[in-house]
Parts: sequence; C-alpha cells; structure tokens
Amino acid sequence: MNILAPSMLSVDFGHMEKELKIATEAGTDVIHVDVMDGNFVPNISFGPPVIKYVKKAVPNAKLDVHAMIIDPIRYLETFFKLGIWGLTIHYEATDDIRGDLAKIRDLGIRAGVAISPDTPVSAIEDILDQVDMVLAMSVYPGFGGQSFIEATYQKLRELRRISDERGLNLDIEVDGGVSLDNLESILDAGANVIVAGSAIFGPNTGDNVIQFKNIMDRK
Ligand code: DX5
Ligand code: ZN
Repeated sequence: MNILAPSMLSVDFGHMEKELKIATEAGTDVIHVDVMDGNFVPNISFGPPVIKYVKKAVPNAKLDVHAMIIDPIRYLETFFKLGIWGLTIHYEATDDIRGDLAKIRDLGIRAGVAISPDTPVSAIEDILDQVDMVLAMSVYPGFGGQSFIEATYQKLRELRRISDERGLNLDIEVDGGVSLDNLESILDAGANVIVAGSAIFGPNTGDNVIQFKNIMDRK
C-alpha cells in the first residue's frame, strides 16, 4: 500500500495546528515528524513537547517519527508515551542497531531503519528481517528543500528486490526532494512510503496532498 507522509518540518509553525488539520483532512493519515539534535545532523528541529502538541492537534494521525539523533534509544520511553506510530532510527547513529530495533518492536511500535545517502544498502541487508520499514534518505539529513539525489533510485530498486526475494513485504520510505515531478519514478523504483515537506506545506497544502494522493492511488 502506498502511504503519503507529509513532513511537518515544512509547516509554518505559527499556524501548525491549522496546517496539520488541512493536510489530514485532505486525505493523509500519517504525519512525518523529523526530530533533530544538532549533533547527528547540523540542524535542531523540535522534540517531545512539540510532538505532544501535534498529537493533540490531529489525534487520529499516525506519527512517523524520523529520529536524526545520536543514540536515539535514550528517548524510546518518551516517544512511546507520546503514542507514536513508528520510530525510524539511523543506522549511522547507534552502536547497537539490532538491539535498538528489537527494543522498539518490543513496545509495539513500528520499527524503521534509515540510511543516509553515503551508506550502502549492503550495510543493513542483514537486519532487514527485524524491521517494518527502511528509509532511504534521498538528501543529506538535516534540512528540508534540498534536491533529490538520483543515486537513491538504485537503492530503492535494491531494497524492493531484497524485500520481494525474501518475502519481507517491507515498507520502503523515501525522504527528501520528492515532488510531483519525480513521484512516479520514485514509486516505480519501489518506494511505497513517500515523505514530502516543501512540496506539500505552503499556501496550497490541501491541493498538494490531493495531487500526491491521486498519483499514489493510481499506482
Ligand atoms: C530532512 C528531513 C525531511 C525533510 C524533507 O532531513 O528528514 O523529512 O522535511 O523535506 P523536503 O521534502 O522539502 O525535501
Ligand atoms: Zn525525515
């Protein structure tokens, strides 16, 4: 199933509640939540207090948390209490990726592993049976509004092939530089969870969600 996950990093935070409601009412039930620590990535975004507010603003939305933080498992309990849907941690941000993913799953949260653009698929091949989702970053993590890195197509194809060969039925998420122009090619390469920030939030948030969904539902 194809899933659209608008990234709230691109909302106008002065009108966060309104924008999130427009996005969800236009037909998406997942919100992508980028948590950054200014350490794993150069930027700092927001943390648990803001996520709590998001949950209150759009209680029915499933929160797809993308942790761009060193040693993310330190915050697992906090995330769990916030009622998040999925937690994706970076392969590059922990010394015990297997152990961390197991802890996420033990709490009944969907577990995801993310790889940054310079990390090959081969680095996570052995742990794919321990995750619900793989996130192939299509920009260097840290900021919205960057251009899609073309080499990501190959990674998506490789991940989909492995998932099919092993019967894993993995969700394959792509994040960064996705727009209406490259959406079809990205879906064709094997991604089924689509994160988009700057291409969704703005003056035409509702229409953007509808246009993304139209293409995604056709596939
Ligand atoms: C970047 C974040 C993305 C970001 C994507 O590190 O993980 O989720 O919001 O933004 P766009 O869609 O504008 O590239
Ligand atoms: Zn993200």
